[in-house]
Amino acid sequence: MARSMKMTMIRVAVLALSLFSFSETVASQQVLVVGGRLGWTIPPAGPAPYDAWAASHIFIVGDILVFNFTNGDQDVARVTREAFLRCNTTNPIEVKKTNPANFTLNSTGDFYFTSTLDRHCESGQKLAVHVLASGPSPSSQPKPRGPRNFTVGGDLGWIVPPGGEIVYKSWARTKTFRIGDALEFLFINGTQDVAEVRKEDYEKCQTNSSIAVYSSSPVRIVLNTTGEHFYTSTYLDHCALGQKLAINVTSNTSSSSSSSSGSAFSPEGAMPPSTPGSSATRVVSAYMPAFVVIALAFFHF
Ligand SMILES: *[C@@H]1O[C@H](CO)[C@@H](O)[C@H](O)[C@H]1NC(C)=O
Ligand SMILES: *[C@@H]1O[C@H](CO)[C@@H](O)[C@H](O)[C@H]1NC(C)=O
Ligand SMILES: *[C@@H]1O[C@H](CO)[C@@H](O)[C@H](O)[C@H]1NC(C)=O
Ligand SMILES: *[C@@H]1O[C@H](CO)[C@@H](O)[C@H](O)[C@H]1NC(C)=O
Ligand SMILES: *[C@@H]1O[C@H](CO)[C@@H](O)[C@H](O)[C@H]1NC(C)=O
Ligand SMILES: *[C@@H]1O[C@H](CO)[C@@H](O)[C@H](O)[C@H]1NC(C)=O
Ligand SMILES: *[C@@H]1O[C@H](CO)[C@@H](O)[C@H](O)[C@H]1NC(C)=O
Ligand SMILES: *[C@@H]1O[C@H](CO)[C@@H](O)[C@H](O)[C@H]1NC(C)=O
Ligand SMILES: *[C@@H]1O[C@H](CO)[C@@H](O)[C@H](O)[C@H]1NC(C)=O
Ligand SMILES: *[C@@H]1O[C@H](CO)[C@@H](O)[C@H](O)[C@H]1NC(C)=O
Repeated sequence: MARSMKMTMIRVAVLALSLFSFSETVASQQVLVVGGRLGWTIPPAGPAPYDAWAASHIFIVGDILVFNFTNGDQDVARVTREAFLRCNTTNPIEVKKTNPANFTLNSTGDFYFTSTLDRHCESGQKLAVHVLASGPSPSSQPKPRGPRNFTVGGDLGWIVPPGGEIVYKSWARTKTFRIGDALEFLFINGTQDVAEVRKEDYEKCQTNSSIAVYSSSPVRIVLNTTGEHFYTSTYLDHCALGQKLAINVTSNTSSSSSSSSGSAFSPEGAMPPSTPGSSATRVVSAYMPAFVVIALAFFHF
């Protein structure tokens, strides 16, 4: 998808969201560690890791960016777009020199960050994020729709993610998975596999008692039970390095609720009972079209 197309879709989404802002529900504030495990540093080979990190998140007004770095080795400067493009750090909007440097994304639009230290910007220590007015509510009541295929990780595919486990977490956060949908894991045969595991094993990164292991790409898994599903890799250290995905699957009919209470899912992730839809969550469904557009703008399904 062309970048201009993405931007158009984002703008459409922003417009759609603002039209519904009268019924806005307060989304919880996210605290995001920039670059994930990489932290805030001179990336090994140019700005790609920060571009990828930004592309794999949705930023909403009120979210906080935490820049994690070593005092003295780095700093964080919020700069204008012009300064960002030219790596001109002579007159930044704001500079923070003490770890962790937190910036609250307090308005919509674009925020640009780099470091004022010598040649750090030119070497790729730079981050641009686009901040939206409002995001989807994770407890929204989805509208009925047909089954959909989700390519796990979008363009990134199924790999050891450069930014750690936050990458697949963010990918999943923007999606609603329904019975009948399919996950597609794309990877190079022999370099990865897909292990479906239980919650405890997911948390401990243990794959010796996986529910199922698939080793030939593409792996297509049709989601046929509701509740939590956990996936990782049996390859050494892949799980520990963040190649792990947890999703919630909800019923595909509007008469069953996607439940906003934690009690709907048992600790074992077993199939929860169907509960009647709650009217309290209905208003939020107005966000769904915009939500889907945002998701499309960031990832190819
Ligand atoms: C910051 O980076 C250090 C060193 O990599 C790590 O131990 C720590 O957990 C990170 N902090 C956050 C908030 O991610
Ligand atoms: C850098 O920005 C400052 C003002 O913010 C400006 O005066 C200066 O000319 C710029 N330098 C370059 C090389 O563009
Ligand atoms: C920055 O955010 C981190 C992570 O939430 C928190 O631990 C820290 O206290 C914050 N620092 C400041 C100065 O607000
Ligand atoms: C956002 O925060 C910055 C300081 O971090 C402040 O200068 C600016 O006025 C704030 N903007 C809004 C819209 O509150
Ligand atoms: C909902 O899922 C069931 C399987 O559990 C399937 O038979 C049915 O066609 C699905 N309906 C829609 C609208 O996708
Ligand atoms: C999902 O993928 C399957 C198998 O490749 C295909 O038959 C089906 O049409 C796809 N569905 C959608 C909604 O793209
Ligand atoms: C899997 O490995 C863990 C620790 O490595 C061990 O405690 C556990 O008993 C093993 N489970 C099975 C089913 O082999
Ligand atoms: C992986 O291997 C399977 C069967 O061995 C093959 O059908 C498939 O095309 C291969 N996928 C890739 C991406 O090479
Ligand atoms: C659900 O899917 C799994 C793997 O895709 C399959 O093994 C299992 O038989 C399916 N269960 C039902 C009830 O269709
Ligand atoms: C699934 O939803 C339940 C209830 O909202 C929540 O407690 C749980 O953390 C979710 N799990 C995942 C993997 O998102």
